[in-house]
Amino acid sequence: MARLQERVGVGLASGNISLEATARGIAVHQMIGILPDMARETFGIPDDHDAVTGLAIGYAADLTSLDDSLRQRDTSPRQRKGLADFVFTGSWGERSPLVE
Ligand SMILES: Cc1cc2nc3c(=O)[nH]c(=O)nc-3n(C[C@H](O)[C@H](O)[C@H](O)COP(=O)(O)O)c2cc1C
Repeated sequence: MARLQERVGVGLASGNISLEATARGIAVHQMIGILPDMARETFGIPDDHDAVTGLAIGYAADLTSLDDSLRQRDTSPRQRKGLADFVFTGSWGERSPLVE
């Protein structure tokens, strides 16, 4: 099982890859819902490494090639938490004045 620092590193790397790819017009879809054992077998991952995430990276398909539900999902407005919901100061849950 990957240690916390390694998971944080994977998160940071994934975020940076997503930003750079997006800036270049390339789509990234990160997934935690992977099959680590199958990834190990398929890609020959050694025992001292673990697959903890997967990133599908490529050019987005034409919307007309998607079925209705995927097209609907892809074109709907995104719902994001506001920064004030998770950027705290002093103690957990205390809103930071930086994001109010
Ligand atoms: C750490 C992480 C893990 C994710 N795991 C999955 C996943 O297993 N399956 C999935 O469909 N989306 C997953 N997502 C969400 C997608 O990568 C993507 O962010 C989401 O579909 C929102 O897309 P949008 O940014 O275009 O709105 C994950 C996102 C993050 C940041």
